[in-house]
Order: sequence, then C-alpha cells, then structure tokens
Amino acid sequence: EQANLDYIRSSIKTIPNYPKEGIMFRDVTSLIEDGKAFAMSVNALAAQYKDKHITKVVGAEARGFIFGAAVANVLGAGFVLARKPNKLPRETVRQSYQLEYGEDELHIHKDALTADDHVLMIDDLIATGGTMEAAVKMVRSLGAKVEDAAFVISLPDLGGLAKLQALDVQAYSLVSFN
Ligand code: PRP
Ligand code: HPA
Repeated sequence: EQANLDYIRSSIKTIPNYPKEGIMFRDVTSLIEDGKAFAMSVNALAAQYKDKHITKVVGAEARGFIFGAAVANVLGAGFVLARKPNKLPRETVRQSYQLEYGEDELHIHKDALTADDHVLMIDDLIATGGTMEAAVKMVRSLGAKVEDAAFVISLPDLGGLAKLQALDVQAYSLVSFN
C-alpha cells in the first residue's frame, strides 16, 4: 500500500554529482541495508505476480541478482542469472548493449530456459533500458515468454520505459524519480 511505498522511497538515498557532475544518483544500497525496506520491496514486487504462474525470474548482474533471487524465492520460481562475460560455465546465449561509454555484454545459460517458461524480468533500476533490452532479447531467443519487467526504481526521463514499450514488454516499478 501507499505507506509502504512511501517508506521504500524514503529509504533510497540520493547522492548529488555521483558518478559525475549534474547526476542525481538514486542509491538502492541504502534501501537494501534497511531490513524493513528490503522486505517490503521484495514482497511488493512478488505480490504483483503471485497468481501469474511465473516459472522463472531473470535478473542481471549485479544488483538485479539481489532482488531477482529474493522475488523468485517468494514466488517459488527458479532464478536465472544474466551475467557479464566469462562467468557462466555452460553454453550461453549472449547479447551486447550500449553503455554510456562503450559496450558491454550479458550471457544466459542456453539450457536455463525453454519454450514452456513464463518469465518475470527483475532489476533494481531502469535508466536507459539497455540492460533490460539485452536480457529480454536473450530470453526470447531461447523461446521463453517474457511476462513482465519489474523494478524497484524507474527513471522515466532516461527513456528505458519507452524502450520496453517498443519491445512490447509491460513494465512495473515501485517508485519513480524524475
Ligand atoms: C545498473 C542497474 C541496472 C542498469 C540500469 O547496473 O543495476 O542493471 O544499470 O541501467 P540501464 O537501464 O541504463 O541499462 P550496472 O550496469 O551499473 O551494473 P551493476 O549492477 O553490476 O553495478
Ligand atoms: N542510480 C543507480 N544506477 C543508475 C542511476 C542511478 O541514479 N542512473 C543510472 N544508473
């Protein structure tokens, strides 16, 4: 409910001029460090998907692991790691994506998802949407169905929500900052 969302919002510290001049950095680590805010966030995300028959949650390294694994546990779903290169031991699919400067790449194990899976995508925050777009493309390339993408924080001004809309992915977030 609203009181919980207000509490979650108030637990997120804002650091001006990090990592560079002019950026207001929304720091999710202060939320995670607060046990009440962390539990409320995980439960609020999971509550949206309780009866949606989610079979797998996918989360991106590193902060996406924290919320994704916790939400998967509440839903009784498996958790699939989208990792940076050279970290996963079995055969993977890969997808590169744009960073502010340059490019990075995420990988998912090929045998982690099948056409029978109903997938919930989770990350701590959506900014430009590049990370989530890459993750969605990999999940779809394995034939699994992306049901939704859910975030603790969205920064709609940075265009990520519009990017997901263009991919026909429904997005949900607990709090948003302009
Ligand atoms: C952050 C955040 C999201 C992503 C959002 O991760 O946790 O995954 O950026 O940005 P985007 O919408 O513009 O792609 P980061 O790449 O900093 O990795 P980290 O979690 O390992 O710090
Ligand atoms: N916080 C955390 N990660 C981010 C942010 C932010 O404000 N902007 C882009 N990535």
